[in-house]
Amino acid sequence: MTQQLTGAATASGTRTRWWRDAVIYQVYVRSFADSDGDGIGDLRGIEERLPYLAELGADAVWLTPFYASPQADGGYDVADYRVVDPLFGTLADAESLLGAAHALGLRVIVDVVPNHTSDRHVWFRDALAGGPARERYHFRPGTGADGGLPPNDWQSVFGGPAWTRVPDGSWYLHLFAPEQPDLNWENQEVRAEFDAILRFWLELGGGGVDGFRIDVAHGMVKAAGLPDIGTPEQVRMIGSQTLPFFDQDGVHEIHRGWRELLDSYAGERIGVAEAWAPSAERLALYVRPDELHQAFNFQFLRCPWDAPAMRTVVDESLAATASVGAPTTWVLSNHDVVRHVTRYGGGTTGLRRARAAALLMLALPGSAYLYQGEELGLPEVTDLPDELREDPSFFRSSGQEGLRDGCRVPIPWAEDGPSYGFGPGAGWLPQPDGWGECSVRAQTGNPGSTLELYREALALRRRLAGLGDGPMHWLDAPAGVLAFARPGFVCTVNTLSAAVELPAPGRPLLSTSAPDISGESVRIPGDSCTWWAI
Ligand code: BGC
Repeated sequence: MTQQLTGAATASGTRTRWWRDAVIYQVYVRSFADSDGDGIGDLRGIEERLPYLAELGADAVWLTPFYASPQADGGYDVADYRVVDPLFGTLADAESLLGAAHALGLRVIVDVVPNHTSDRHVWFRDALAGGPARERYHFRPGTGADGGLPPNDWQSVFGGPAWTRVPDGSWYLHLFAPEQPDLNWENQEVRAEFDAILRFWLELGGGGVDGFRIDVAHGMVKAAGLPDIGTPEQVRMIGSQTLPFFDQDGVHEIHRGWRELLDSYAGERIGVAEAWAPSAERLALYVRPDELHQAFNFQFLRCPWDAPAMRTVVDESLAATASVGAPTTWVLSNHDVVRHVTRYGGGTTGLRRARAAALLMLALPGSAYLYQGEELGLPEVTDLPDELREDPSFFRSSGQEGLRDGCRVPIPWAEDGPSYGFGPGAGWLPQPDGWGECSVRAQTGNPGSTLELYREALALRRRLAGLGDGPMHWLDAPAGVLAFARPGFVCTVNTLSAAVELPAPGRPLLSTSAPDISGESVRIPGDSCTWWAI
């Protein structure tokens, strides 16, 4: 199936605003498809599977970092931003992938990691040697009698102090792992270099990239003077308050500059903020008209399976983004969180809820992000042996939190084979027994499967022109049920485990468990979602 790269209303040649309602599929590169049998997914593997993504109905693909990296944090530690790591292929493979995606009507967004480099980046090597690149990072003297204590009380997101001491006695800042030194965005050379990096990928062969997912978009600017946070409790409250290293007002100037740069290219290239902000209003600031196009809605991702809580998040998200004229984005899973099948309770209950949540998400106005394997209903893999784990947050937090490997297990394409079709050999993380039953091949053509549910939902979403970027309003519904109307369409979600009866809103179009219609009323099964034509 070939789609046109048009989005809504392009005949006039006006801007399409394709991103306002796009369904964007996240490919975690090392776990998607391995073409060469080294156990690690790669760019050629992705290119081979692009037809699957086009047929699924995705509008765009987001690729996690595939740049030269020692892989201390799954590639979010970049040693050279213009080189493809040999693990994943070559620059020629990247160009070929871009060309093939565009030919299928798929846009491609790539990660850019501007908050920190790898400690192997040539700049950091120079900084350690006392060279001028030291100004491009945050080096400070220590505190305490002999400077043996860190410069301030900041903690790394992965656990432990956010500072590491180097042989000359000074300390450098790393909000993540020690192998990820933070860049100093007050330094003009840093800014100029990232402009050049963005241009490099925008101008690459194959049509260039269609946008960037900006890693830690809220963290690049630190409060002047790098002040202490305060009490130990406050120090650990990452994500729920304004910290001197997150969501500082100064980041917006950078994003405005990037928007100008993106707008100087044809084809509506976009910027997507991975930003953790303390409220929906603060998050909306990243998507003001002259800033980025989208920001991930982590409030929605974190929301429990509970009707009032979900309704509140939907209302707050829509109100906040509407206040700046931006679309909302919805996301249920990504490579940093426990898969939503498991978050919602696991087993058959978790799967029922996950399927219903997906249909809810795809019926809401805005753009939706899918994480590879969610269309297969994959659960989190919770029993990986510790010695096989690679997530740095696991090692820095004594195994208590940060278990991010369980959502990164290679996905199954076939019922059997050494890695269920992921590649010719075993994958870099072991897949659970029975993983083949969830595979693309096992689910294809099976009308009750989660894969066919996603395929149908995405096809319907495209056909029902009003879905995506249009209005919505809530309808009266019994406790535990969400019901809302979109143009010509109603969505009902029963978050209770028991069935609920209500007046039939219309003709069922698609459901995660068939509703039982009798005359004017309908019994909606527990943990289910139905789309209705009205
Ligand atoms: C990415 C993580 C990564 C971190 C540091 C995040 O937000 O999604 O996977 O560990 O940034 O780069």
